[in-house]
Amino acid sequence: MNMTREQKYRLLRQAEPGELERLAKQADGCGWRQTYHIQPHAGLLNDPNGFAYYNGKYHLFYQWFPLGTDHGMKYWYHVVSTDLASWTDAGIGLEPGGPYDSHGAYSGSAIEKDGRLYLMYTGNTRDENWIRRPYQCLAIMDETGAITKRELPVLSNVPGGYTDHFRDPKVWKDGDSYWCVIGAQRSDLTGAAVLYRSPDLLDWTFAGEIKTSLPDFGYMWECPDYFELDGAGLLLLCPQGVEPEGEHFRNIYQSGYLLGDPLNTKNGTFKHGAFAELDRGFDFYAPQTTEGPGGQRILVGWMGLPDLTYPTDDRGWAHCLTLPRELSLRGGRLIQRPAAGLRNLRGESRSFSAAWADGRRSFDGIEGTAYELLVAITPAHPSAFDVGHADGLPESGSGRFGVEFRTGAEERTVLTYDAGSRTVTLDRSRSGPPLSPDYGTTRSCTLGGEPGDTAVEFRLFVDTSSVEIFVNDGEEVFTARLFPDSASTGITFFADGGSAAFKGSYWPYNAGAIPRGLPAGLADYGKVRP
Ligand code: FRU
Repeated sequence: MNMTREQKYRLLRQAEPGELERLAKQADGCGWRQTYHIQPHAGLLNDPNGFAYYNGKYHLFYQWFPLGTDHGMKYWYHVVSTDLASWTDAGIGLEPGGPYDSHGAYSGSAIEKDGRLYLMYTGNTRDENWIRRPYQCLAIMDETGAITKRELPVLSNVPGGYTDHFRDPKVWKDGDSYWCVIGAQRSDLTGAAVLYRSPDLLDWTFAGEIKTSLPDFGYMWECPDYFELDGAGLLLLCPQGVEPEGEHFRNIYQSGYLLGDPLNTKNGTFKHGAFAELDRGFDFYAPQTTEGPGGQRILVGWMGLPDLTYPTDDRGWAHCLTLPRELSLRGGRLIQRPAAGLRNLRGESRSFSAAWADGRRSFDGIEGTAYELLVAITPAHPSAFDVGHADGLPESGSGRFGVEFRTGAEERTVLTYDAGSRTVTLDRSRSGPPLSPDYGTTRSCTLGGEPGDTAVEFRLFVDTSSVEIFVNDGEEVFTARLFPDSASTGITFFADGGSAAFKGSYWPYNAGAIPRGLPAGLADYGKVRP
């Protein structure tokens, strides 16, 4: 934290002897290390990059500053998986420090061509006056995993009308052409996404701006992504500078999507509906998608945000990635479900089923710090449960129901469903050390559905310092970092002002899904290969 500019913009090979090892040891000793989420061995992780299914495996990279928890000199770090649940280390993917990425190998994407994986990314440079200049660069990974950077950038200039905030190329193929979308800031300081076209991924031609109905929506759009799903077009973007609006846009920066007709690449027109947030929690940004071998669309995000501090910042590491989510459309909405392969992490299941009016219950053996918890809550009139109440009780379907988890003597994280208003609220005000309280300690969203629908289903993925909550089979997702005490392991279900049936399952999650310990020779670019 609070490193000088000189300290932040050091390459690994400029580190003090033993510096990285010391940081990794400090991180390793931190009680908030995750057990099944991708996290850095040391230093800071941010955006997922280069996500691709290539040669029978998922390849995923992330933005990584190895030498501290500031946003410094960014590398790409590489991890590999066959099931999107367990990951192995593949070492450094991209090392910055060349003439066109002297101040970081910033975010970008990957696409397969002629049996090799092409990585297109933003080379960040600063001149002696600290003026930023971005280049769009290319590196190629062969089937052995060796990555070679091309000497010259594929795009050296920002087109007229845009500032130096011009980055994060996301590439796809359509017919014989490759396309890429780049996050941009117009000269009038509004955010935009622009298009380029190429026959071969080397030679790129500017194809204009994506014309959306949001001409003035924040001052910068980071990490755009475009893909088609079931005949619809989706543009993902991370606008910065959007003001809060009721339950919406409560985080420092937003991450969401526009759903519409397929993008008209001839004239850049994109007809779409309202901007919708991808996540209703506190810590989600810069997601990237790829297509899996069965044509499925998979998304991974950064479980963190720029410009905020987190409690591990002085413990040698910061941030993790979200679990992969599989995307689909249902009733004109984007649905996000946890990737099917995550089932591989499940230990022995325990089930529970009970119904009660006004009160709290816990179940034997259902507690912990790393698990999946599924609970369906069906509010009903209390008489249905023969609990000895009679008149004067609330109408069927009203009341507040939910689950408190990571509970301990002083701590609890509370997920509440208000059946009357169909509102879901996540409260992390007592989840451990305060996290960016200026941005609020609760997040809420109102569920869709028909009048009279009162039931709700929550699927929680709890890890040592996070939770991801999938509501109603992917209708909404809440993602949050939490930093409770390791002794805060309890789970309590509650009914308040009504009655409900609670039915569900619990699976402890096995450790060992993610790499531990600094791989030998980490600093030797190109030597650490799977
Ligand atoms: C988003 C972002 C990207 C940039 C990268 C740098 O979090 O700011 O726009 O490429 O992070 O690490």
